[in-house]
Amino acid sequence: MILKDKIASQLPAWRDRVKKLVKESSSVKVGEVNIGQVYGGMRDVKSLVTDISYVDPNEGIRFRGMTIPEVLAQLPKPPGKEMPYVGGLYYLLIVGEVPNTAQALEVENEWKARMQVPPYVFAVLDAMPTDTHPMTMFSTAILALQRESLFAHKYHTGLKKDEYWDPTLEDSLNLTAKLPTIAAYIYRSKYKEGLIIGPDPDLDWGGNFAYMMGVEAPGYDDLARLYFILHSDHESGNVSAHATHLVGSALSDIYYAGSAGMNGLAGPLHGLANQECLGWLLSVYNKFNGVPTKEQLRQFAWDTLNSGVVIPGYGHAVLRKTDPRFAAQLDFGNAHFPQDDIFHLAALVYDVVPDVLKEQGKAKDPWPNVDAISGALQYHYGVREFDFYTVMFGVSRMLGVTANAIWARALGQPIERPKSLTTAMLEDIVEKAKIPA
Ligand SMILES: CC(C)(COP(=O)(O)OP(=O)(O)OC[C@H]1O[C@@H](n2cnc3c(N)ncnc32)[C@H](O)[C@@H]1OP(=O)(O)O)[C@@H](O)C(=O)NCCC(=O)NCCS
Repeated sequence: MILKDKIASQLPAWRDRVKKLVKESSSVKVGEVNIGQVYGGMRDVKSLVTDISYVDPNEGIRFRGMTIPEVLAQLPKPPGKEMPYVGGLYYLLIVGEVPNTAQALEVENEWKARMQVPPYVFAVLDAMPTDTHPMTMFSTAILALQRESLFAHKYHTGLKKDEYWDPTLEDSLNLTAKLPTIAAYIYRSKYKEGLIIGPDPDLDWGGNFAYMMGVEAPGYDDLARLYFILHSDHESGNVSAHATHLVGSALSDIYYAGSAGMNGLAGPLHGLANQECLGWLLSVYNKFNGVPTKEQLRQFAWDTLNSGVVIPGYGHAVLRKTDPRFAAQLDFGNAHFPQDDIFHLAALVYDVVPDVLKEQGKAKDPWPNVDAISGALQYHYGVREFDFYTVMFGVSRMLGVTANAIWARALGQPIERPKSLTTAMLEDIVEKAKIPA
């Protein structure tokens, strides 16, 4: 298998590189940690390592060193389509090289060979109460599949540490292959009277998701590919990535670890933000019975701020400019449906809100993040069940977290075990710091 061969050929050099770094430079300081960070969610503490993606405050995400426009331009695309094969993106994340069409198709074909979802997963989903949140269903489906884990099986029958990555890669392919079917099943069973649409073996991973969702309008398959590429990875410190890594560091397999990551993604401060953004756009739209003028919008934004709540979709913990994932989705909407009311409104908000936030002077980043527009695009295509949006995010994010898990195993990353202190100890540290030397 190409992914296996590529990892195997890169591994000796990677292992030497990491070994040398740790052996020769273990005591070199990377940074310092202050009390604000200890009590403040470890913000900006440099304590994780990944070579798969990096978020530059001014440039946004780079996947394996490539910007979003570069990724979209250089990855191979299905014939006649605008957006690349998601299999090509997975290849890029795992291998670190831009695949040619044949290589991207090899990943797509691996997925096709592994896409069959065992019936017991659907039985588990069917047994859940109808008001169960789709993210609970998604995470449960992943966890239910844990019995399939090759890593868990091989670990218990004896596996050498330097071989851990191999069954992790197998597990990752087996799991990610099934995610579009699982997600679409959740959507159709929950919102479309259980009228399930099975996969089409001739379609690619992203195209198949669009097909199984039952969205017939042309272009939704390209939006699906775009969405899955954009949301796949955002370095290692975000909740879904870090939760997956933390659980995986205990040698829990990718089903356990990925399900944990998805539970984190389900939180309102993480993957749920996109639906809040769309909710805000719709509240503007309803208040003005349509798209408001710039001045009306400006006033509405101020009213939102003055009522003490944030403007969803704007600001970022790391970024300090327009999120390139926002820009890519804005381009998509502008190219396909610039006159769509809700899309048009989202674009207008981009014209107005950064200035309002700058004027207010609180947000360090007045620019839009990925969530400011993704819901508006789904809304255009008639996918209007907000609770489901995070599931699509999850399908995509599983690509990034599994790619990271494979390399974490390959490089023998250890169990995570940061140290905690008591508040009294922190107070003591403060007191001692006051004593002049
Ligand atoms: C993304 C977010 C959580 C980042 O938080 P952060 O790193 O703490 O942001 P900042 O350091 O810029 O925050 C400084 C101040 O600006 C405020 N601020 C930041 N973004 C804001 C926004 N979109 N609207 C209004 N105020 C905002 C913060 O609430 C904070 O106010 P405070 O000092 O009264 O507590 C924050 O920008 C936000 O809440 N955005 C809106 C929700 C959203 O889009 N979430 C999705 C994130 S991908």
